[in-house]
Amino acid sequence: MILFIDTANLKEIEEAAKWGYVKGCTTNPSLIAKEGLTQKEVITKITKLIDGPISAEVTSEEYEGMIEQGKELFAIDPKHIVIKLPMTNAGLKAAQEFKRLGIPTNVTLCFNVAQAVLAMESGATYISPFLGRLDDAGLESMKLISDIMKVKKNYGYDTKIIAASIRNVEHVQTCAIGGADIATIPFAVLSKLITNPLTKDGLEKFRQDAAKTAALSK
Ligand code: G3P
Repeated sequence: MILFIDTANLKEIEEAAKWGYVKGCTTNPSLIAKEGLTQKEVITKITKLIDGPISAEVTSEEYEGMIEQGKELFAIDPKHIVIKLPMTNAGLKAAQEFKRLGIPTNVTLCFNVAQAVLAMESGATYISPFLGRLDDAGLESMKLISDIMKVKKNYGYDTKIIAASIRNVEHVQTCAIGGADIATIPFAVLSKLITNPLTKDGLEKFRQDAAKTAALSK
């Protein structure tokens, strides 16, 4: 499963990029709003930190506005920018047009299989099903990824599924078991993926035993 970072915070992106296993970045208007810079400034800086797909979301609700804004965002860095579009009829029309123009898209705010089918039929490059927000609404999130992956396989869609709204390590594990192509993960959760108390204890024991062996050669 490919790992992306879900943030617009430049310090977090810079740190995660050093680990070598974070291969892309997703942003949204709420994440951009926390940074105190314009969307163009933030996205431009992210393109210097991550050599992979970077989702930048349109804010217009009208088809024409989405096309105009999407083209402007794409022009920031055509090698990396993916245009994030909302799950609306205007957003799906824009996904169809961007496909025709060869501009990659990520249809966001997907909460069920039916919406995923619409986005895949519209030629979206990526779709982002949201797990945490389903949990927040008291709805079942565990099966969403595996169900969408099954539909993708049934019809041979080449859309990539980005599991989003990930809140904890269990969500990441569920996505991997469910076969998600990609998981986009906030920095706090990404940082936790490597930790396990048994790994920590095991390393301490190895350190102590290695010191005993090293003492023999003194
Ligand atoms: O990038 C979209 C998504 O991951 C947002 O997550 O935690 O705001 O539901 P969250």
